[in-house]
Amino acid sequence: MKFFIDTANLDQIREANEMGVLDGVTTNPSLMAKENIKGDEACRRHYLDICNIVDGDVSAEVIATDFEGMVREGEELAKLHKNIVVKLPCTAAGIRAVKYFAERGVRTNCTLVFSVGQALLAAKAGATYVSPFVGRLDDISEDGVELVAHIVRVYRTYGYKTQVLAASIRHTNHIIKCLDAGADVATCPLSAIKGLLKHPLTDIGLEKFLADHAKVNGL
Ligand code: E4P
Repeated sequence: MKFFIDTANLDQIREANEMGVLDGVTTNPSLMAKENIKGDEACRRHYLDICNIVDGDVSAEVIATDFEGMVREGEELAKLHKNIVVKLPCTAAGIRAVKYFAERGVRTNCTLVFSVGQALLAAKAGATYVSPFVGRLDDISEDGVELVAHIVRVYRTYGYKTQVLAASIRHTNHIIKCLDAGADVATCPLSAIKGLLKHPLTDIGLEKFLADHAKVNGL
């Protein structure tokens, strides 16, 4: 399973990249706003900064909600860098834009997916990635991981090539469950990625190794 980091924060992207396990980045308008990135020019520069840190796919989301606007914005984003993936919402116009870009060899991430039906449309239109939002479904007492598993089953049954990108991951256990569900990618906050490292027996074991080494060496 590939790991993307779900942030527009350059320090966090650098930190995850330095761990050596990062395969890409996802952003969205809320994450860009959190970093106070305003205006088209600043957004474009920021996407380029991200692409210069990580050698992997970087999802950049359109703001337009109409087909023509999505195409215009998506084409500009795709021109920025070879690793940019145009992120489009799962609406009628968004699905049409996914199809438009697929026919022209531009990679897309169909986002804000909350049902198998939406994921089916994204795959039929030729999306590179589909993003089911795990945490937001859990927030309303639905099972986000089960949706990931269901989409994976359907895609494998019918041979769709669209990769299932588990999004809205909130914690480490979501990552483990998405592994079991067969997700191709999980996009996670840095805290969840770092959480995978944590185990008290690792800390206790290392402390003992170092103590034994110090004792025998008279340190
Ligand atoms: C997906 O690509 C989105 O950026 C993201 O995962 C949304 O997560 P949230 O529900 O934590 O905002």
